[in-house]
Amino acid sequence: MDVVIVKNYIEMSKYAAGLVGECIKERDQPVIGLATGGTPIGMYQLLVRQYRAGLLSFKHVRTFNLDEYIGLEPAHAKSYHRYMQEHLFSHVDIPPDQTFLPDGIAHNLRMECRRYEKLLKKIGPPDLQILGIGENGHIGFNEPGSDLDSGTHVVRLAASTRKANARYFQSLENVPTHAITMGVKSILRSKKIVLLASGDRKAEAVRRLLEGNPDPDFPASALYQHPNVTLIADEKAFYS
Ligand code: PGA
Repeated sequence: MDVVIVKNYIEMSKYAAGLVGECIKERDQPVIGLATGGTPIGMYQLLVRQYRAGLLSFKHVRTFNLDEYIGLEPAHAKSYHRYMQEHLFSHVDIPPDQTFLPDGIAHNLRMECRRYEKLLKKIGPPDLQILGIGENGHIGFNEPGSDLDSGTHVVRLAASTRKANARYFQSLENVPTHAITMGVKSILRSKKIVLLASGDRKAEAVRRLLEGNPDPDFPASALYQHPNVTLIADEKAFYS
């Protein structure tokens, strides 16, 4: 695992946007795996800025998101569909039919997982997968103790994840209890993985990650099975 330590959130976002931009420019039909949450927002802002400056086009890009809450309509203010519209898709020239997220309101969730995994295999795997890290070491919504050998599946969110994400909802009760997530196995198929960590809230997770011990109770440790992972951590996430 390569480790890049940068000064702060802005520098982390710049570094990550640079890698995404490069990946898009180098390929005719790039496939990018995207993450949601607070961490990648700055990166998306910079990508939108590059697009507006005429430096980057998303016309031929296809994107796969890691996860979606179960029970939230795409238009719901807190769904990841909506997050992606607000932070990236509606600001750039990506055709809507080239953006893929799991459907959190599918009638048959098991079929939906199968559909998404098939699509990932057909169109993907991502040339570059962006990841955040949960304070509990989750990647996507693969929570501690989850099967590290799984494809896209339904998960019950850990109490700590619901608590961490309650800041985006009106109250803890409003945070969905389940989600669909790409599995660790699906994530590890990506050609390159970029893991972002910012702020002292993530310092414990970064410290544990860098211990390098494979541990099903710390899903991010599975990233050591991949030959091309770069962790971009800011000073607070690294030194706190
Ligand atoms: P955050 O979430 O970016 O909102 O901190 C990251 C994650 O839980 O994967």
